[in-house]
Amino acid sequence: MTVGIDRIGFFTPNKYLDMHELAEARNVDVNKFLIGIGQNKMGVADEATDAVSMGINATKEFIDEIDISKIGLLIFGTESSVDQSKSASLFLKKALNLPAEIRTFELKEACFGLTAAIFTARDYCLAHPDKTALVVGSDIAKYGLNTAGEVTQGAGAISLLIKQDPSIMEILPGESSYSDDIDDFWRPNDHRTALVDGHYSMQIYLDFFKHCFDNYLASSDLTLADFEALTFHLPFTKMGLKALRQVLTDEVSEKLTNNFELSTKYCREVGNCYTASLYMSVLSLLEHGDLKAGSLIGMFSYGSGAMGEFFAGKLVEGYEKQLHFDQHQAMLDARNSLTIDEYEETFTKALADQPEQSKLTSSEASGTWYYAGNQDYKRQYKQK
Ligand code: HMG
Repeated sequence: MTVGIDRIGFFTPNKYLDMHELAEARNVDVNKFLIGIGQNKMGVADEATDAVSMGINATKEFIDEIDISKIGLLIFGTESSVDQSKSASLFLKKALNLPAEIRTFELKEACFGLTAAIFTARDYCLAHPDKTALVVGSDIAKYGLNTAGEVTQGAGAISLLIKQDPSIMEILPGESSYSDDIDDFWRPNDHRTALVDGHYSMQIYLDFFKHCFDNYLASSDLTLADFEALTFHLPFTKMGLKALRQVLTDEVSEKLTNNFELSTKYCREVGNCYTASLYMSVLSLLEHGDLKAGSLIGMFSYGSGAMGEFFAGKLVEGYEKQLHFDQHQAMLDARNSLTIDEYEETFTKALADQPEQSKLTSSEASGTWYYAGNQDYKRQYKQK
């Protein structure tokens, strides 16, 4: 029996900051951002757009195409949690009218959260072959104004349906994990923005990829040449390129570099979206490339703290019929460009907690579903 990805939903907010605008305001040569970091734009979430609303909007993309009575498991992976206790998945379950007979919870290990959810879902589907699992990764990357990490912010969500005999990608058995207690990036409970040891975090990412990839090849029959593409968690696109360059050989350099570039197109527009990032890279590759069914795609998931995993997926015959390239392009094209002042104001407002009673209107909010404020500290999600 094969288990894997059957549907992919993607969402990013309706506002962005162009890197030219940021570079000018921060007095930095724009090529540092465009080439050195490898980003063109970053998604900006306003106060009515949070991890929950983005996750709902991403899932909404395919929810009417699937049999919701078969969903037995719903996991929400995020490090942009909206409550210390209640799971983000419960808001999503209510918004999308999912049945009550579902096991659901939120899961965290920095950017690794959605990968952890996928493997939990895969094991669930192997144990319950007649059931499906919904897994969502949704995050807003925040380092703060005028920080070195500012250029690597972003926001977005990916939602995946995991099931037996999937119509997009089979997840191959066998994966290579690596973990260690590392202080490269973290966010204490009283902080709204992340703390990071930037250059150290990059080195750890590269080391973890090398460990995971070498161990994967050593424990499988596969070689580098068997992969049509290697895809990465992309905190910024240059990070993935640095990792890829560690393993390139002359024989595969052109193929893997070209396909890597295709996998970075959405990240260049959206920025880091933590848990969703790797799967946004996979989606970007599938929607911009022309890969044949049967192609093998390598995936490297990295979550600071730190946890790395390399695994592989095989594209299923007819996978392209499940993609929504035009819809995603329209979502990106319809975004509003912010001036630096508008970005700083939007970012600062969104950092603040809403009071016990508050009302946020839908006019500014991204997507169909939005965070409408608090009633007695209970978060309200509404549809436009
Ligand atoms: P920085 O120190 O400002 O940048 O911060 P830099 O001085 O290292 O320069 C960056 C690159 O631009 C360099 O290229 C420069 O040479 C180049 P490289 O040598 O690395 O190839 N450059 C130029 N290129 C062209 N024209 C120019 C020019 N000037 C310079 N004029 C840093 C960069 C990434 C450290 C910072 O933005 C940061 O701290 N970001 C956040 C941390 C991060 O993203 N870490 C990544 C690994 S950890 C991870 O992926 C997990 C994470 O997603 C969190 C989670 O798991 O939840 C972050």
